[in-house]
Amino acid sequence: MAAPGENLRINSDRLWDSIMEMAKIGPGIAGGNNRQTVTDEDGEGRRLFKRWCDAAGLEMGVDEMGTMFARREGTDPSLPPVYVGSHLDTQPTGGKYDGVLGVLGGLEVVRSLNDLGIKTKHPIVVTNWTNEEGARFAPAMMASGVFAGVLDQADVYEHTDKNGKKFGEELERIGWKGTEKVGDRKIHAFFELHIEQGPILEDEGIDIGVVTHGQGLKWLQVTLTGKEAHTGSTPMPKRRNAGLGMARVIELVHEIAMDYQPDAVGAVGHMEVYPNSRNIIAGRTVFTIDIRSPEKEVLDAMDGRTREGIDTICDALDIQYKIEQVGHFDPVTFDAGCVKAIRDAAERLGYTHRNIVSGAGHDACWINRVAPTAMVMCPCVDGLSHNEAEEITKEWASAGADVLFHAVVETAGIEA
Ligand code: GLV
Ligand code: MN
Ligand code: MN
Repeated sequence: MAAPGENLRINSDRLWDSIMEMAKIGPGIAGGNNRQTVTDEDGEGRRLFKRWCDAAGLEMGVDEMGTMFARREGTDPSLPPVYVGSHLDTQPTGGKYDGVLGVLGGLEVVRSLNDLGIKTKHPIVVTNWTNEEGARFAPAMMASGVFAGVLDQADVYEHTDKNGKKFGEELERIGWKGTEKVGDRKIHAFFELHIEQGPILEDEGIDIGVVTHGQGLKWLQVTLTGKEAHTGSTPMPKRRNAGLGMARVIELVHEIAMDYQPDAVGAVGHMEVYPNSRNIIAGRTVFTIDIRSPEKEVLDAMDGRTREGIDTICDALDIQYKIEQVGHFDPVTFDAGCVKAIRDAAERLGYTHRNIVSGAGHDACWINRVAPTAMVMCPCVDGLSHNEAEEITKEWASAGADVLFHAVVETAGIEA
């Protein structure tokens, strides 16, 4: 199969302009974005993406999870397509690049192929996976999880946001519940471009992260139930303080992660306190523990220690607990052939590169179970992500998209 020539480059101005145009939809409050999944803003972002796909001559398919698949035909339409993409949904205080770079980088690949008049043998499909973030509806990577057969579609339709709205009904309301059966597509290979969301590439002055592995994750949603009582008149020994329980669990999660350095991480990001009144001892708290490790044994050990620790804490405080696992995937090893295509592309284009493990979850982690998959990463400023101040440079974005371009074209094949 002919490899693309090193002169092949994407149009970096067009990629950057498209990212900035998408960022106008669902602006945040501090320069980033709030375009959470299956909101009106998500619907508007999808419409803009579809307009761009139509203009590029792509044919759009939408599945029952709302995932968008924009197809550029190959010279042999019977061959399974090469898929490329990521997600357009954001955190409530998200950046402009997390996910968006991967979808619009994929679009830029086909726009560049159109400009250059290059036909690939395999079709190419640019994909926008629904609800990657998991911020509004757990778990993260929801649609790719259903696609890969790991999550149950009927079950996730029933998942509710904090206002009690159901995922399935919201997807229908914004008009993006398609008719295509989820997971029916044959995928030749899947490539995802993403910002690193960590500091390694920038610190080392490296252009490209060749992602070899993704770390595993567990999300444990904990409900602690004590007793609401007056903060002034209830004697300290008589209190059943669910807020104190939550504080101790937060400390516990941090300590456990510190015991498995340098790679394991743990935090509580989502917290609800009831009734959340200044002079009432919290009677109930609901919060989610996020623990991650690149090693399955470590992840399982952290999970076990967390559960034991919660039991001990609650016993001492005379409060009850319930633990629900609302997200889980084991560490991932990406496909050697796809990883090599990315490394070869970086090499051919003269970009500096290194192997890297993804700290975040990605749709690629699920799709890797059903098709050969790999990821390419570019640096982000100060490693900051899931923050409106998330930033990258135009040069970093175009280096990542160039590598994506070459890896996709090489895998999709062009006539020698
Ligand atoms: C997805 O953004 C994650 O939580 O890693
Ligand atoms: Mn992402
Ligand atoms: Mn994210």
